[in-house]
Amino acid sequence: MKPIQIAENIYHVGVNDWNIEDFHGYSTPLGTTYNAFLILDEKTVLIDTVKAEFGDRLLANISRIVDPRSIDLVISNHTEMDHTGSLARIMHIIGEDKPLYCSKMGAKNIRQHFTNPFNYQPVENGQSLKIGKRTLTFLETRMLHWPDSMFTYVNEDRILFSSDAFGQHYAGFEIYDDVVGEKIMWHARKYFANILMLYAPLILKLLAKVKEMNLAIDMICPDHGVIWRKNPAAILEAYQNWSRQIPARKAVVVYDTMWHSTEKMADVIAEGISDQQVEVRPMYLRKWHRSDVMTEVADAGAIVVGSPTLNNGLFPTVSDFLTYMKGLKPTGKLAAAFGSYGWSGEAVKLINKVFEQMKLEIIDPGMKVQYVPEKQDLDSAYEFGCRIGRRIMEQ
Ligand code: FEO
Repeated sequence: MKPIQIAENIYHVGVNDWNIEDFHGYSTPLGTTYNAFLILDEKTVLIDTVKAEFGDRLLANISRIVDPRSIDLVISNHTEMDHTGSLARIMHIIGEDKPLYCSKMGAKNIRQHFTNPFNYQPVENGQSLKIGKRTLTFLETRMLHWPDSMFTYVNEDRILFSSDAFGQHYAGFEIYDDVVGEKIMWHARKYFANILMLYAPLILKLLAKVKEMNLAIDMICPDHGVIWRKNPAAILEAYQNWSRQIPARKAVVVYDTMWHSTEKMADVIAEGISDQQVEVRPMYLRKWHRSDVMTEVADAGAIVVGSPTLNNGLFPTVSDFLTYMKGLKPTGKLAAAFGSYGWSGEAVKLINKVFEQMKLEIIDPGMKVQYVPEKQDLDSAYEFGCRIGRRIMEQ
């Protein structure tokens, strides 16, 4: 991807990573981007860098606009290596004595990633920096999603460089939301559900703070995916809604199966839920990636998990999913467990234990069937689904 001017003397100099399939446990079938931005003013400013293996492309992009050695200062909004992987190389080229602006936690964290004696310029929340005609303002966004995270706002251009927040794992030559169209919202929701959901209470506080500051925002430039320029308020509002986790009349039935018994139960449970006019998504864990399941869980009113008992425990894919979901801390959902077993049958109890740890409301002790479900078992599973559906409708 070549550099693209996004405003007068402000350039997107980031790169596409078309081939990445898994971003620490999150499926990225469309790849992703590592966005970096160059501002030309009396000072030449680079905001963020890219993953180490894409450093050449970042340098090539910068070189098409200016000599990289003319960069006067670098801003690191976030320490994670997809944005600092090529930082040491950039600093080496431009001169390690050049100022590196970051949050206080950023300075601490970058030191723990690199041994180079960078000229750290830690900034306070709300601190401003004049770079010529423009003034940059830094906003600390701790734990969104690392302790070091911050935003950089360009006052005059009304552009918010938001680091990971409002991102999407979506590679493309289309760099704006309005060019990609409405489908980009699904990618933004997936990103939120899998990276930021556990920080929902902090996001609500941050959004309130941004509102209080009355920042005029014409463009939001995240470090992954497209730039929000058509209606930046729309993604802010979406984050507000997703963070509030208002449950929809929707259930996700997520399961795995050994000899189709748990699958048969899942089918009729889903049917029972659907018959109560509740949207239902049956998701078989060897078809659906855990991160796609979480995208559906994000706005679901109920999460229904099914597992066969294997070696006195959970089926491995179900165990993996529960660990992943627990870490993302979805709240306000009803929960129920089911599964088949041969002789010991611990799976339902183990799933419920995770639900309890997650403080989800378990609406039924759970349903288990030995070996292969017979007609009366499937009738019971259907009723089980109907009960879940009715509870969702009562919410
Ligand atoms: Fe895109 Fe937290 O890194």
